[in-house]
Amino acid sequence: MDISAIIANIVEEMRAAPDRGTVARYIPSLAEIDPAQFGIAIVTADGETFTGGDAETGFSIQSISKVFSLTLALGKIGDRLWSRVGREPSGNAFNSIVQLEAEKGIPRNPFINAGAIVLADVNLAGYRPREAIGELVQFVRYLASDDGIAIDETVARSEEETGERNRALAHFMKSYGTLHHAPEMVLGTYFHACSIEMSCRQLAQAGRFLMLGGRHPEGGRVVPDRRARRILSLMLTCGHYDASGDFAFRVGMPGKSGVGGGILAVVPGKASIAVWSPGLNASGNSQLGGLALERLAEATGWSVF
Ligand code: DON
Repeated sequence: MDISAIIANIVEEMRAAPDRGTVARYIPSLAEIDPAQFGIAIVTADGETFTGGDAETGFSIQSISKVFSLTLALGKIGDRLWSRVGREPSGNAFNSIVQLEAEKGIPRNPFINAGAIVLADVNLAGYRPREAIGELVQFVRYLASDDGIAIDETVARSEEETGERNRALAHFMKSYGTLHHAPEMVLGTYFHACSIEMSCRQLAQAGRFLMLGGRHPEGGRVVPDRRARRILSLMLTCGHYDASGDFAFRVGMPGKSGVGGGILAVVPGKASIAVWSPGLNASGNSQLGGLALERLAEATGWSVF
């Protein structure tokens, strides 16, 4: 299989695509990003890397950070996490508050905003916010084997200034006792996690442990095999919010999107893939990122089904 040629075709199609979606406007610093960009990076199980388009350009990983926060939180409290956050698709927008009241302040899953705010609370235990975020960045650097990964402080500030919806979610959950720390401390950690900047190459590298059943490609184990499978199952069922079913139908890979326009997709035993294009569709997922993965799945036959 000629992966380089497949990538070249995808990049060509995406460069010319007429419908590129619209960049997220509710976080002001994301609204300034040029929607003409598209990047893709693939790391295969044998360690080869293939890239195309703007694969080296850094972008805000946003909700993709929820995969790394979840991995850390499970490492800290294991299955006790599941008494504070569920494992069902929400069928609602990523920042929706409606289910929280009916479901006693327990978010549906760790990949909607409310769920990820719980992850931030778990990862904060025993730490100051600055230390907790430092730990997450170090963890992502280790996963990606790249010490250059850092937080974009401008994006973090922008989120902090406009994050009223997230504040509402956090205070609401605090009233039910789902959060153990002060909402402002938890939110500071959450906003900074969303503001980690990575390129497609770095993101595909960070996803390698999920492709490899929990092993780090450079030796040792990040998580047990069963945990890697479970994280992937949540990515498949909940990784694209209320469009997770459509993504599974069209692409057939576990994937996690972010409002920065990135998607991390994993084919167990075969590939870790990152795509990025800043324009979003109506569900808040990358318009061209989803299309590119659909093309990739067609051309390679990669699928979990
Ligand atoms: O909290 C927010 O709304 C953003 N920092 C992250 C949202 C996100 O990426 C959801 N994605 N589709």
